[in-house]
Amino acid sequence: MVEFMKREQWNSRIGFILAAVGSAIGLGNIWRFPYMAYENGGGAFFIPYLFAMLSAGIPFMIMEFSLGHKLRGASPKIFSKLGENYGLRLEWLGWFQVFIAAIIAIYYVAVIGWAISFFSFSFDQSWGGDTNAFFFGEYLKIGDHSPTSLGGFQLHIAIPMAIAWSITFMAIFTGVKGGIERASKIMMPLLFFMVLILIGRIVFLPGALEGLNYLFQPDFSKIMDAKVWSAAYGQIFFTLSVGFAIMLAYSSYLPEKSDINNNAFMTVLINCGFSILAGVLIFAILGYMAQEQAKPLTEVVSSGVGLAFVTIPAAINLLPAPYIFGPLFFFALVVAGLSSHISIIEAVTSALIDKLCMPRKKAAIIVCGSGFIISMAFATNGGLLLLDLVDYFINNVALLFSCFAELIILAWLFKIADVREYANRISDFTIGSWMDLCLRFISPAMLAIILVKNLINTVNNGYGDYPITDQLILGWGLIAFMLFVSLIINLASNKEEL
Ligand code: ALA
Repeated sequence: MVEFMKREQWNSRIGFILAAVGSAIGLGNIWRFPYMAYENGGGAFFIPYLFAMLSAGIPFMIMEFSLGHKLRGASPKIFSKLGENYGLRLEWLGWFQVFIAAIIAIYYVAVIGWAISFFSFSFDQSWGGDTNAFFFGEYLKIGDHSPTSLGGFQLHIAIPMAIAWSITFMAIFTGVKGGIERASKIMMPLLFFMVLILIGRIVFLPGALEGLNYLFQPDFSKIMDAKVWSAAYGQIFFTLSVGFAIMLAYSSYLPEKSDINNNAFMTVLINCGFSILAGVLIFAILGYMAQEQAKPLTEVVSSGVGLAFVTIPAAINLLPAPYIFGPLFFFALVVAGLSSHISIIEAVTSALIDKLCMPRKKAAIIVCGSGFIISMAFATNGGLLLLDLVDYFINNVALLFSCFAELIILAWLFKIADVREYANRISDFTIGSWMDLCLRFISPAMLAIILVKNLINTVNNGYGDYPITDQLILGWGLIAFMLFVSLIINLASNKEEL
């Protein structure tokens, strides 16, 4: 009980769920999911996606919520405490996860910065007719730069990034209840409201339903393709913010009486439901655009950065009342990004608070201050290229490795049934032994296959057209450095500290 009183706490259950959902729903839902579904079998993709959600997403979320609730700490403290009982030193995995969060936070904020800029451009569509030339040329000024030859500092990108950092800083500095929870209670209803308004108008435009047909038309031949399954599993971990310290930190602020199972189901289902809404929105817009330009949809569809900052602005140019729908779309993107960014930074801040017994305000200043300075590397001509390279290695290697290591430790070294029993004891409804099966066999097997496949592919072919030295330094080198520092902290750690 005293343990529970000592740590900051969420004010209400709905506050926690909105914060967890805010973390889960992010850029990944809006620009990654729709394209991924379309590319991997359309309607048929929902079969592997739902399977991944049930076999990995929900059990992983229950596991992380239970660990955070029981061990009441950020990721390094949780793994250290877990290891203690078995005479093992596992704190390194916690720090490795915190590093993943820190790296994601510094490039994620760049995308939020671009979205803030595009929000301001969208009132009069000042991106003009050639949105491709505008984004890559006029706005990013990429030229012939590379991830290691970044070119000059771009103040017009740095300023919106600073705005994003200030909002995140205010939420983290003010604390769990007054900052993060309050921000989530405003941001999440606002986000759903904006997306529903956008959908409500856009699905009635000519061509929109054709777009939805493309998204949902099932291509069952894809179901037998291992690539499709690996895409579904990869997406589930990133979108649910599991495996990189976030949900562990958030659930460590849960009050003693908490319905873990219900909270986990709600977080996962709301997040995945939102992804489908985002899919409907994006494909309705693309369908309308294809019709207006008399092109097949396959020619206008794109993913990631290109979708949000080239295709969507071009589509907004064609919409009726673009000065309303443009700002609404980019504001929704900013809100979705910010609520995730807050959670990613909280994962780092809470680790520092635990480790150094630092007051929250001081930790917030250190984390956001240094994060802001390092993130300025992305406010340069080569910023997008640096982001693309680092993001690939972090998502496809480091994050999957971290999820895999977490599962092996929890499900094979320890007894996952104990974690399930803990969750069941304090929850309204109980989870059966199917959870053990998923976490012991199905999820580790899927993760191992995806990880090995990614490793072989990246070792053999590298990523993109980036020079090999850039990939060695900013990809493999960065991951090795993160692992090395995590192990050093682990070695240097005095068990009494945590
Ligand atoms: N879960 C967050 C996203 O999907 C990080 O963007």
